Amino acid sequence: MYSHERIRTVIVDEHDDIARLVAGRIAALIRERAAAGQRAVLGLATGSTPIGIYRELIRLHREEKLSFANVVTFNLDEYYPMDPDSIHSYHRYMWENLFDHIDIDPANVHIPAGSASRDQVNDVCDRYESAIRRAGGIDIQILGIGKTGHIGFNEPGSGVDSRTRLVMLDPVTRKDAAADFYGEENVPREAITMGVATILEAREIAIIATGEHKAVIVRRAVEGDVNHEVAATFLQRHPATTFYVDRAAGAALTRIATPWLLDEV
Ligand code: GLP
Repeated sequence: MYSHERIRTVIVDEHDDIARLVAGRIAALIRERAAAGQRAVLGLATGSTPIGIYRELIRLHREEKLSFANVVTFNLDEYYPMDPDSIHSYHRYMWENLFDHIDIDPANVHIPAGSASRDQVNDVCDRYESAIRRAGGIDIQILGIGKTGHIGFNEPGSGVDSRTRLVMLDPVTRKDAAADFYGEENVPREAITMGVATILEAREIAIIATGEHKAVIVRRAVEGDVNHEVAATFLQRHPATTFYVDRAAGAALTRIATPWLLDEV
């Protein structure tokens, strides 16, 4: 670990290397648990960055007999309000990009209910926390990072003690999502997200970022001071987090030019 980096960071040459490394780690955990007759609990993320990981997990299922029969999943977040069948929902994203292609039991899939009514939503959030606890906690949590430094939808101001709850989305986040929704005015103003405390309870965390548009926020998260203005900085306090970035997303890190880095993977 480099002295100025406060989160263990792995820089890879190719976007696909992140998918291989993270999916490989997930597969090892699933197999280890299955051999002991236990379930593996995964925390999953949406966005464009994790797609490669899901594609690789599907390949491992099809070609290398990786079974998800003993896997339980909890997704980080969902827009609110959101119909699960909408093309914009994270429900639909997860089924299309992963669950429809593997042997997971639908009863083991958990995604915050963006369709809950306003008077149910707090209950829905509390029950989500209890369900994670009942499952034994999350073994590996995958995270992307938004331009505001959010993890899940923990926007600037989210505290280290925050739990699963309804939040307002930051204008920067809504602007980033505008293309997906055919215009910023169509992007929901709120979302349900696991809290920072929920995320920090995962036993292991893999946070991933690719592309030059993430370089500044990656540096802020990895090298900057812990501050609730950038939720990802709280990961500096987590004992088993690895930040996987490609060269473009790692470009602003102080030691990007060092060639021996890949040996550390
Ligand atoms: C959304 C999601 C986050 C995700 C972020 C980055 O805001 N709620 O969980 O990390 O987008 O997405 P992308 O991977 O597409 O850059």
